[in-house]
Amino acid sequence: ATSALIDPFGRKIDYLRISVTDRCDFRCTYCMDEEMSFLPREQILSLEEIVFVAKTFISMGTKRIRITGGEPLVRKNILWAIEQIAKTEGLEELTITTNGSQLHKMAQDLLNAGVSRINISLDTLKADRFLALTRRDKFQQVVQGIDAVSKLPFKRLKINSVMLKGHNDDELYDLAQFALDRKMDISFIEEMPLGIITDHNRAATYLSSDDVINTLSQHFELTPSTMTTSGPTRYYHVAGSDHKIGVISPHSHNFCSTCNRIRLTVEGRLLLCLGNEHSKNLKHIIRREHKDLTMPEASIKLQSAIIEALALKPEKHHFNLDETPQILRFMSAT
Ligand code: GTP
Ligand code: 5AD
Ligand code: SF4
Repeated sequence: ATSALIDPFGRKIDYLRISVTDRCDFRCTYCMDEEMSFLPREQILSLEEIVFVAKTFISMGTKRIRITGGEPLVRKNILWAIEQIAKTEGLEELTITTNGSQLHKMAQDLLNAGVSRINISLDTLKADRFLALTRRDKFQQVVQGIDAVSKLPFKRLKINSVMLKGHNDDELYDLAQFALDRKMDISFIEEMPLGIITDHNRAATYLSSDDVINTLSQHFELTPSTMTTSGPTRYYHVAGSDHKIGVISPHSHNFCSTCNRIRLTVEGRLLLCLGNEHSKNLKHIIRREHKDLTMPEASIKLQSAIIEALALKPEKHHFNLDETPQILRFMSAT
């Protein structure tokens, strides 16, 4: 086996995020416009190609893979791909990030397929606000899904709430309590400027993680925790609970120095950082030379491309909410 992937800044990269579809059944105002154009099928990786790339990464020392979207669970046959990846020897955990819309139907299937942790996006507990924020009337369905997964023995569950001043910051306590009641962690996220969006003002709705923690400290006894999933969340221990409240602070507390991850975009680009465009086209390499993905040469070519790409990983992102987004790519494609 190849030794672990180390980037030019000495960071060990053992975590891969894979966007399996840019499509989504929601239209969150901070993520997408109502009218979105999605990629045609031939431009996105097939599930076989995704599994092939994932297995190649695992052979190179990747320990953790997170499946994301768009909404990953709307991709046809996704359970097949999840199962193939999860059972690959060497992988320590297969996790997914979802908007929760399919969990009421898929909770048990995901557990059976080998998913160990699920992160679920939920920005409000009010059905009318949910409709305004996601442009879809699916609040009850999502809560039903969250309740379904919370009854099953997943290793860990987390709620993600993007905080938007004036829209949901009065729900900090309720969201935190909702998660703790269901034996889940929760991350409150500072929004990142990805893609140009029409009906939403990112600078005006910015809420810092320090404000989040100050508000929550009026309700909970919070102490900084050393617990980490090696992700961007800084967790706090909550007195009287086994579960944690965390914050993701791309603007107020840069976390790039401990970054452990790279991304496979829906189009098969290996993206070295969410906030930069440095990338390498892996789809090109797979499709140009190897129709037969079982051939060892295909994997070797891909491995050298991955090693080359790693040299492009930048030191950090440079997000700025006051400017027109420099990154035109949408979060949902990466
Ligand atoms: P675990 O650490 O595996 O629990 O997951 P996570 O919290 O990193 O992943 P999740 O998909 O739940 O993402 C939560 C938020 O963190 C989203 O807003 C992501 O875009 C953001 N995020 C995750 N990884 C990165 C990263 O490398 N850079 C930046 N800037 N944001 C990230
Ligand atoms: N900034 C921060 N988080 C975002 N998410 C979607 N768009 C953004 C953004 N621009 C969140 C979703 C989900 C996670 C995958 O990323 O709400 O919880
Ligand atoms: Fe879909 Fe997630 Fe984007 Fe909302 S934030 S539109 S759920 S991809």
